[in-house]
Amino acid sequence: MGDLHPDLARVLISKDAIEKRVKEMAKQIRGDFKDTQRLYIVGILKGAFIFLADLTRELSELSMPHVVDFMALSSYGKSTESGAVRILMDLREPIENQHVLIVEDIVDTGHTLSYLYHILEGRKPASLHTCALVRKQRERLNVPLDYIGFDIPDVWVVGYGLDFADQFRTLPYVAELKREAYTR
Ligand code: IMP
Repeated sequence: MGDLHPDLARVLISKDAIEKRVKEMAKQIRGDFKDTQRLYIVGILKGAFIFLADLTRELSELSMPHVVDFMALSSYGKSTESGAVRILMDLREPIENQHVLIVEDIVDTGHTLSYLYHILEGRKPASLHTCALVRKQRERLNVPLDYIGFDIPDVWVVGYGLDFADQFRTLPYVAELKREAYTR
């Protein structure tokens, strides 16, 4: 691994820790859905794409039947602030009577997940569950979160799908962005 970028304060979650936790989460999901014929996995772009790729490959290893679809959402406001949410790209298929699992990168205030949860709930899936790689301590909406990878402090994190202004997304670990990097 190369040196840490000067805008990054520290590695918060290592590549190994992520790998281990993603395997555990896949096992837990496999166990919980052992009687489910097929899971309809909804990945939220762009942030969830790396987590989703690793999680679904683990689910395949565990012979969990599933399909993957994507939604793209956008929050108004600056890149480190949460605001109103809008759908940029919707699912390709109706999800009525499907067992749906939403896969998010991060839950911060919970606005995005809460908005999405209610939209998808309205489409009458057979069941609706949620999964996020990380949850910040700031989360306050109390959204139904069934699977959480890591709880983290209220700092801006990047890597493993998470970005700052589209930068740092493909780092293999989750790192804390220095405050001065997003306040300047
Ligand atoms: P929420 O609606 O406040 O829960 O924020 C959700 C969205 O804000 C996430 O889906 C991310 O796109 C973005 N976000 C919040 N915190 C971070 C962070 O620390 N790093 C990268 N993106 C973040």
